[in-house]
Amino acid sequence: MKLKVSRKAHFNAAHRLYKKQWDDAKNLEVFGKCSNPNFHGHNYELIVSVTGEVDPETGFVIDLKVLKQLVQREIEEHLDHKNLNIEVEEFKHLNPTVENIAVVIYNRLKPHLKYFELEIVLYETPRNFVTYKG
Ligand code: NI
Repeated sequence: MKLKVSRKAHFNAAHRLYKKQWDDAKNLEVFGKCSNPNFHGHNYELIVSVTGEVDPETGFVIDLKVLKQLVQREIEEHLDHKNLNIEVEEFKHLNPTVENIAVVIYNRLKPHLKYFELEIVLYETPRNFVTYKG
């Protein structure tokens, strides 16, 4: 019996979307307001879902307390109140789009959740979100 269990989390972070090979006009054309050279913030909403068999002994797919602590340690402490471009290693050479942030989150969590299927849903705004399953 396989179930998907989910944990919601939240972080605020600043970013700028740009390619350094392009001038400001081209960056503005492609990335819009997200290319503002002085950075800007988003309130990111994250849903981390883990699919697996229910352990007959505990009745859990995963102990949600463990998942909560993992998301806090690996994601919230790593990204919350950070300037993604400047302060977060993964984005030194990677554009911090919502797509790329979701992939980075997946890659940070997956080694700790080897025996589960992992799904990341990341909202950059209430209406814009991406899903990544590896
Ligand atoms: Ni933005």
